[in-house]
Amino acid sequence: MAGSFKFWKESADIFDQGAKHSFPLVIATWGPNVKATAAAWKVLSEGGRALDAVEAGAMVPEADPRDTSVGYGGFPDRDGHVTLDACIMDEFGMAGSVSYIENIMHPISVARRVMEKTPHVMLSGKGAYDFAISEGFKHEDLLTETAKDAWEKWKIKSEYKPIINVERHDTIGIVAIDKQHRIAGACTTSGAAYKINGRVGDSPIIGAGMYVDNEVGGAASTGLGELVLRTLGSFLVVEEMRRGKHPQKAVETAVKRIVQKFPEQCKTAQVGFVAIDKKGRHGGYAIHPGFNYVLYQDGENKVYESKSFLSKVKNQ
Ligand code: GLY
Repeated sequence: MAGSFKFWKESADIFDQGAKHSFPLVIATWGPNVKATAAAWKVLSEGGRALDAVEAGAMVPEADPRDTSVGYGGFPDRDGHVTLDACIMDEFGMAGSVSYIENIMHPISVARRVMEKTPHVMLSGKGAYDFAISEGFKHEDLLTETAKDAWEKWKIKSEYKPIINVERHDTIGIVAIDKQHRIAGACTTSGAAYKINGRVGDSPIIGAGMYVDNEVGGAASTGLGELVLRTLGSFLVVEEMRRGKHPQKAVETAVKRIVQKFPEQCKTAQVGFVAIDKKGRHGGYAIHPGFNYVLYQDGENKVYESKSFLSKVKNQ
């Protein structure tokens, strides 16, 4: 046993939550992202490609000024800069990513251009911005009055304390399987509010914030990126599914790995994972209660309250 946490026993039952395992399907972190999964579902239900679906889904919170942890309206770093991270993967295992990019409303679409139009996987900072501008993206001010006011208030004490389950949303990670059983994933965020300027989280790192393998399935994360970066969480989830685990068991393994390694930090930090597999099954799990996710499958866009490691401990 690590630290003061008790580890729960794995139950034999498989947590299927009544899903019908039909195709297409799309899963995303956080309930408020029902609009994102609806945008993705529109693409999928019309026979479109999973890659187009996850991009369309990720663009919804990126453009929403009320979402303070993704894109436009995202809370800034401690110097007042809104810096964005995003990544995307397609069914061929191709990947694109941007980190520490500023003044671009849709980093997910820039990540896709990196994947499709450059010999690289990842562009960062000014280079990513210059590439976006050269591709026709517009320079935009992403710091809203609400985010600026919150930052001004934060500066009074200047305490860096990432909050668990920020207003029941955070980074969006979204994974889809289309009618032709092609798998794609995307992840986009403004990262931790009031981070040190230059900080990059898990979201743009292939295998940390998101990972898909067309033979297996896909996974994405939300929460404190440092914990996911140190464990390459989404890659771990996909590899567990490759070894035969149900997506629910795979996400539980990834959360347990984090708690085993960083028990003290986990007392005040949240991480959640979502996953789907090639059979159309899904899973979601977090360190703390309060994480939820959306699954659009069989024509229904449903929000699920995630089980969590700590509620499991409390209930024992
Ligand atoms: N998971 C988002 C971040 O830590 O930046």
